[in-house]
Amino acid sequence: MAGNTILVVDSDAASLNYVSAALSEVGHRVLQAASGREGLVVAWRDHPDIIVMDPVMADLKGEDFAVRLRSDARTSKTPLVALSSDPAQSRSHSCMDAGFNEYLVKTAQVVPVLVAAIGRLARTAVSVTKEGGLLIVFLSAKGGTGTSSLCANIAMNFVANQPEVRVAVADMVLPIGSIAEIVGYAGDQNLVTVTGMPSSETTPDFFRKGLTEMTNWHFHLLAGSPDPESGNQLNVGRIGDIVHSLKLAYDFVFLDLGRSLSRISLPLIESADLIVMIVSTDLSTVTLTKTVWDYLKTKGLQASSVYPILNRAVGLEGSTKAEAEKIIGIEIKTAMPYLGGNFALANNLHQPITVKFPNDTAAIVLKDASQQMANLARRLHSG
Ligand SMILES: Nc1ncnc2c1ncn2[C@@H]1O[C@H](COP(=O)(O)OP(=O)(O)OP(=O)(O)O)[C@@H](O)[C@H]1O
Ligand SMILES: [Mg+2]
Repeated sequence: MAGNTILVVDSDAASLNYVSAALSEVGHRVLQAASGREGLVVAWRDHPDIIVMDPVMADLKGEDFAVRLRSDARTSKTPLVALSSDPAQSRSHSCMDAGFNEYLVKTAQVVPVLVAAIGRLARTAVSVTKEGGLLIVFLSAKGGTGTSSLCANIAMNFVANQPEVRVAVADMVLPIGSIAEIVGYAGDQNLVTVTGMPSSETTPDFFRKGLTEMTNWHFHLLAGSPDPESGNQLNVGRIGDIVHSLKLAYDFVFLDLGRSLSRISLPLIESADLIVMIVSTDLSTVTLTKTVWDYLKTKGLQASSVYPILNRAVGLEGSTKAEAEKIIGIEIKTAMPYLGGNFALANNLHQPITVKFPNDTAAIVLKDASQQMANLARRLHSG
């Protein structure tokens, strides 16, 4: 894909001119900077779509450049590619950790690889496109409302209702995810490991073949961050691209965003086909949900693409459906009954509620909700 504005930062004049000429030739507009500091000035002033930089730089090394770029709102999400004169693995890791999206080593054959990387990154730079499967995000205004359990249980019912569809669930909750624990996944692969891979490797095919299909649950899982330490170091610049690949590999992609309205989750919410908002019945959660919903409306979100679930997670007391609707100002589509200890029991056994308690009202509610959501998501996607 051509026609983007690319900033090339390189203190080696011959290399700067060679790369610039190659990118111009395939139709990109090229801006140049001969030092790290000059690169930052141009990046903040001219807002290039993508930055290509040799991290080996006398005045400001690539890692520091990346950190400064990421901490400024104007360039916090601008894709950054290292075109490096340092082939060391350790350098590649330190650059990826600092916020680079790709690390390519300068070789005689690197230009086509660079052009392909730019094409991929340009496509996913702003937000996730509408291409591919449907994106369903789960979020809540407060923790402990049942968001992760319902995300897993509803995804499970999606496949149970329509065995022909392929469903992936990705746990995006930072700094630590909980879906792996709920569904009993003990493997090594997770959001942190895949965001540490270059985008040339996290292809749709990689996710199609590489995500574990969970027994009992029937969906494919991308587990969340296993611990706060790695969660906090995660390369967030790679998330848009990863969700894009997931969408190309699956019919439905469920994301657990948890209690989060961050820089990371907001673009995902904005590009979702359906937003499932989990509300527990205690007054503080209902009130906070109103605040979150009012905020999302200012971002242009429509009530028609939101699927609120009132989950009686905290006991029999608390707001009724009508009370919650009145406070939040949105129609609640599903009310999940209180399951007492059975909910935690199913979670502890890593079993879906529909499997462990097939005759419970909750199993019927989950099945119905999944059906309604699938219909709604398809309608919204095609309209
Ligand atoms: N309808 C319900 N009936 C009974 N207990 C429930 C219900 N919904 C949720 N719970 C309880 O709440 C617990 C927390 O659920 P879960 O981890 O899914 O919430 P969460 O919103 O994802 O929390 P966190 O903020 O920690 O991510 C469950 O293990 C279960 O014990
Ligand atoms: Mg959770």
